[in-house]
Amino acid sequence: MEINTTVKIGKLILKNPVMPASGTFGYGLEYKNFFNLSELGAIVTKGLSIIPVKGNKPQRLIETSSGILNSIGLQNIGVENFINEKLPELKKYKIPIIVNIYGKTIDEYIRVAERLSEVNIDAIEINISCPNVKKGGIQFASDKKAIKKLLYNIKKIYTRTIIVKLSPNINPVEDIAILCEEYGADSVSLINTLQGLAIDIIKRRPVLSNIYGGLSGPAIKPIALAMVHKVYKKVKIPVIGIGGIMTYKDAIEFLIAGATAIQIGSANFRDPLTCIKVIDGIKNFMKLNKIDDINLLIGTLNY
Ligand SMILES: Cc1cc2nc3c(=O)[nH]c(=O)nc-3n(C[C@H](O)[C@H](O)[C@H](O)COP(=O)(O)O)c2cc1C
Repeated sequence: MEINTTVKIGKLILKNPVMPASGTFGYGLEYKNFFNLSELGAIVTKGLSIIPVKGNKPQRLIETSSGILNSIGLQNIGVENFINEKLPELKKYKIPIIVNIYGKTIDEYIRVAERLSEVNIDAIEINISCPNVKKGGIQFASDKKAIKKLLYNIKKIYTRTIIVKLSPNINPVEDIAILCEEYGADSVSLINTLQGLAIDIIKRRPVLSNIYGGLSGPAIKPIALAMVHKVYKKVKIPVIGIGGIMTYKDAIEFLIAGATAIQIGSANFRDPLTCIKVIDGIKNFMKLNKIDDINLLIGTLNY
């Protein structure tokens, strides 16, 4: 049986809806010896800033019940090093490249987007779960004015696909999704990590140097699914589902909830082949259930 797994996100055409989540797949090349990267729907890079960032001091990661808590601090090599050292090799895999970006100020976000508009990448994913230093550290994710300004300016300089990655720490997340759609985002992806805390009971100190961290992995899947479904009902732009996807079954749940595509994060640490296994699993599921087009699954939750 011939099956179609192609989905569209803005101007992007993905041959299947599976991609790694930012920050869990390096710059893509780190996984090239595990499988053929060309099999992926797209590559999503670690979040890039205008200059390289060292990130937080250790300890930056701890395993929790069904998840991990991280406070990496958005460590990255900076947009210029990415363009010079990683992009040429990444291009050889001939799959869409989505670059996740962030800044400490609106101007920094714009400068990263501007630099990326000069090279051949397919989409940017704007991570708005970052503290705005000019606003005393409050997150962009909760600042509607800042998001409007960000999108308005980025759209002027970056004409390919723009995805905004939403924070689950803001309520209700649908309001921010609607705002992003209104201001020209081609898609929203959700969820980023949920804020969490782990405590060393002997020292009575936080385990992570940064005190709080971001929770990811299977523990957050039901929350992510609910948010994806709520956002799907409110916007017309495609939604990318993220959060605790470990198997093809999890991925299918997200598609049924309304996600056009999905990203796999923490699962890559447990099994670097997860993305490939999920792609195969989705295809087998479609064949077994006589679904010839993946788009017939998206947003089909009965209730
Ligand atoms: C170690 C680590 C680093 C991450 N770095 C980024 C990042 O740079 N930019 C970003 O938007 N999200 C980042 N995330 C969030 C993931 O992309 C994803 O949204 C989150 O982990 C939920 O998916 P999961 O449950 O499949 O891991 C990171 C997550 C982890 C675990």
